[in-house]
Amino acid sequence: MELYETMRSTFSARQYTGEDMSDELLYQILENARFAPSGGNRQAGKIIVVRDKPLQAAIADLSLETARRYTAQSMAGETPYSPIHETALTAEQIAAVEPLPQLTDHLRNASVLLAVCLDLGSIAALDKDLDRISLASGGSIYPLVWNILMAARAEGFGGTMTTISLAVEPAVKELLNVPEDWALATLVPIGKPVKQLTRLKRKAVEEFVVRDRFDGAPFAQ
Ligand SMILES: Cc1cc2nc3c(=O)[nH]c(=O)nc-3n(C[C@H](O)[C@H](O)[C@H](O)COP(=O)(O)O)c2cc1C
Repeated sequence: MELYETMRSTFSARQYTGEDMSDELLYQILENARFAPSGGNRQAGKIIVVRDKPLQAAIADLSLETARRYTAQSMAGETPYSPIHETALTAEQIAAVEPLPQLTDHLRNASVLLAVCLDLGSIAALDKDLDRISLASGGSIYPLVWNILMAARAEGFGGTMTTISLAVEPAVKELLNVPEDWALATLVPIGKPVKQLTRLKRKAVEEFVVRDRFDGAPFAQ
């Protein structure tokens, strides 16, 4: 598949046919994805290839309460888990909502679940002392994840970058024997998509790119 076509069509695949992604194909994808950049080229990531179905199910189960709150906040028109705005919902209101199955089912049903970890002792979080959450650290791992997802797409497979399980990171880390100084960056379920989407809903360049200043003119042709 041509690069631009892959970039334009790598969707979040959440429903899978059950067809297996072989270790051979996964290795080939990782063998190419590994050329992603990382801060200082320290390559501080480690990926756990989870194929153990009860383990996948346990991770999905651990994520249910997060999915419940995520669903409740979405239904209420809030940005779930916003680092700036607290939820206006009460614990009772959240408890009354059923979590959307699509938030956790793919963790369970994927042919393979990649648990992507990051060694916090090997990353330079340049924004760590600012009065906001750190973003820079994620830059050392998410390019690798996106390479994997685009390669999977090019091979006729698909997956989703998920963060739903990160709210219960300590419990997931315990299940996977992840050491204390390592963070869980994302869990990536991958499988053969039931449907291959090709048209993604995204903003036009002019809607989010500007010239010279944040309030500058839209960057248009
Ligand atoms: C940082 C990040 C976190 C995400 N977390 C989840 C998640 O926990 N569960 C999920 O189903 N999708 C998750 N997604 C997928 C987004 O929902 C998806 O990219 C978006 O809705 C666009 O969907 P599309 O690519 O199919 O058009 C995440 C995506 C990103 C980039």
